[in-house]
Amino acid sequence: MSVVGARPQFVKLAAVAAAFGNTEHHHTIVHTGQHYDADLSDVFFTGLSIPEPHVHLSIGSGTHGVQTGTILAALDPVIAAARPEWVLVYGDTNSTLAGALSAAKQHIPVAHLEAGLRSFNRRMPEEHNRVLTDHAADLLLAPTEEAVHHLAAEGLADRVVLTGDVMVDVCLRIRDKVLRDKATAAPPAALNAQEPYLFATLHRAENTDHPDRLAALVDALAGLPVPVVLAAHPRLLARAEDFGIKLDNGSLHISRPLPYAELIRTVLGSRGVITDSGGLQKEAFLLERVCTTLRTETEWPETLRGGWNTLVPDPREPGSQAWLDTVLRPAPRSSRGMPYGDGKAAPRVVRALEDHARGSQAR
Ligand code: UD1
Repeated sequence: MSVVGARPQFVKLAAVAAAFGNTEHHHTIVHTGQHYDADLSDVFFTGLSIPEPHVHLSIGSGTHGVQTGTILAALDPVIAAARPEWVLVYGDTNSTLAGALSAAKQHIPVAHLEAGLRSFNRRMPEEHNRVLTDHAADLLLAPTEEAVHHLAAEGLADRVVLTGDVMVDVCLRIRDKVLRDKATAAPPAALNAQEPYLFATLHRAENTDHPDRLAALVDALAGLPVPVVLAAHPRLLARAEDFGIKLDNGSLHISRPLPYAELIRTVLGSRGVITDSGGLQKEAFLLERVCTTLRTETEWPETLRGGWNTLVPDPREPGSQAWLDTVLRPAPRSSRGMPYGDGKAAPRVVRALEDHARGSQAR
């Protein structure tokens, strides 16, 4: 049973559901409803051909406690009725933690996909979710060597399997499709002409939920001398409105959140990415676009090697010229290697679940 609820989890689910589709296993999908806007949810199921969820909990928004607690309470009877062989939780959202807790308390084995990532920033809600989920889970499916080291340092080495990153499976598949369809592609809807542009997203609480911080980031983007396509997450729109910050301003072109293939096409068409998203840092890296990350740290340090990704905690700090030079820097010549695996992580995830199933010969 896969428990998912937020946008990045649907992308990972696409790879896992396809891998299960090639087996005899019965794979049940539970959607918590943490993300409920069609732009953040439905378009991923249709665009990535993910089977319809078997159960939809329709939880919606709330404070962390309310959201996590409501999902936990709603999941209990679902997991109790199905008693799956495994509950598989993804990434670092409130849905991840709630899924892990509900299963662990019912003695159902829990596997955590994307285990072992750490920002070491305990103010991030995602960091609490990652650490707590890893310690509750029975099987830790790590995407990178770095993640394996973090888990070992926390005494969890005996539960770890290095699978590679399932997001690579999806990103490369969709990239190839987008490149095949290239002839018919139009420039991003937010732009009028085929001009060089940067692509940006901004949604993390530490960037959106403080008026001064959000205003400074929006100013830094709006003041750039090239068009910036900003695909706006509902959290960003809501906070900007609360704080009276105008987003459609200067160089900024605001678009709705993009469906996955459109996102890949927009990154490929861009000269660089500016973001606070974890997934997009990696997508930029895989698609060979430079990325500037508006955070103090990253869970994906492999992207920093050779300068493909650069952390800019505060665009005002280095001064406007340095900010400009950073976001418009040319792509490095250094080789990126394959730190996230070979695009075949999802079948490895399925194999790891088979090998570690209760009573399996392999254990
Ligand atoms: C969540 C995850 C984050 C992940 C992100 C991907 C947590 C703590 N955070 O952040 O790890 O990177 O998803 O997008 O689980 N909203 C809508 N419509 C929606 C969803 C959200 O309007 O479909 C608005 C609501 O006002 C809500 C706010 O966005 O309060 C934040 O949503 P929430 O689910 O709490 O977190 P995200 O910022 O999306």
